[in-house]
Amino acid sequence: MAQIELVGVEKSYGRPKRGHEARKAVSDLSYVIEDGHFVSLLGPSGCGKTTTLNMIAGLEDISGGEILIDGRRVDDLDPDKRDLAFVFQDYALYPHMSVYENIAFGLRMRKVAKDEIDRRVRDAARRLDIAHVLDVKPKSLSGGQRQRVALARAIARRPAVFLFDEPLSNLDALLRDQTRSELKVLHRELGATSVYVTHDQEEAMTLSDRIAVMSRGRLEQYGSPYEVYHEPATEFVASFVGKPRMNLFTAKRGERGRHVLPGTAFGVESGALPEEIRVGLRPEECDLRRPLAGEQPHGTVVAVEPLGNVSDVHLTMGDVEFLVRVPGFGSYGVGDAVVVDLTRARLHCFDPETGRRLAVS
Ligand SMILES: Nc1ncnc2c1ncn2[C@@H]1O[C@H](COP(=O)(O)OP(=O)(O)OP(=O)(O)O)[C@@H](O)[C@H]1O
Ligand SMILES: [Mg+2]
Repeated sequence: MAQIELVGVEKSYGRPKRGHEARKAVSDLSYVIEDGHFVSLLGPSGCGKTTTLNMIAGLEDISGGEILIDGRRVDDLDPDKRDLAFVFQDYALYPHMSVYENIAFGLRMRKVAKDEIDRRVRDAARRLDIAHVLDVKPKSLSGGQRQRVALARAIARRPAVFLFDEPLSNLDALLRDQTRSELKVLHRELGATSVYVTHDQEEAMTLSDRIAVMSRGRLEQYGSPYEVYHEPATEFVASFVGKPRMNLFTAKRGERGRHVLPGTAFGVESGALPEEIRVGLRPEECDLRRPLAGEQPHGTVVAVEPLGNVSDVHLTMGDVEFLVRVPGFGSYGVGDAVVVDLTRARLHCFDPETGRRLAVS
């Protein structure tokens, strides 16, 4: 059982210089990780994911705010008193110990009884499909197997909380997808609160109950995968979550409550919003058609990228590039004039100054 609560947590590295505040690596982080939830910290390199995880772990001091586990402040508690297990990107295995000893090591340190250790090591090895390599040293294992040993070591501890820092990023694409599915199954079986750092939005979407999207040390949104995908709180979240990336452009108020893309026939119904807004449309929610007789096209096809099940059709509309994902190989070629059909599309509007989501009436 473990619920983790962050209240106004911040971290600055180094001392403040005279007349300047110390640079903040993260600031103003407040959210609750519910017991048993799998929560991803998602964002680009340098946004403060590892810093946040390390503060939860107790590997870094916090510079402000509070961290509570099950309602109890832990900011002064040593890492080994917090009942959590860490899985790193680089595995951090002991090279001179066998796989068995690597998994057992933490349990021996905690003076767990010998037959209980044996039971837990074998159970963890079975779950991760490494029972046949228990006697070998890490150096004779593949990268994927080493990562499984690191996972098995964490599982054998039976901690209240699992902390993961980009655990799959050293694996090749196929193994990464496979291990990701296994992690999901493992989480369902073990049910322990998990905090998972990644810059891969697909990993965050597929694994998580909640996603904390971060940018430049700040929380952009804390929500379910459904919420961050369908109701992004900021333009940053809109552009970071979803593949292919959301189309985002600046639109100006035209006639009859429509905002139009300057210099084009392309516009959206957007009600009583500011004069100028940022508009977002997902490529997979737009459709293409050929213009009717006398109808002005919205844009011209400049490239088609077939992916097999879908194709990405790149358009130019005035000075703006726009992407539409169509089923199969599609029927459009470079130079075709097209109309973008928004019947299925959700409209996302953002304040051009603050980047915050605007309610569309
Ligand atoms: N020990 C340190 N001393 C000074 N600055 C640091 C230290 N560790 C991290 N930082 C800074 O804090 C910020 C956040 O770093 P952090 O490692 O948390 O990012 P991250 O989101 O994990 O990035 P990545 O995806 O590259 O691992 C960065 O600007 C980084 O340069
Ligand atoms: Mg990191």
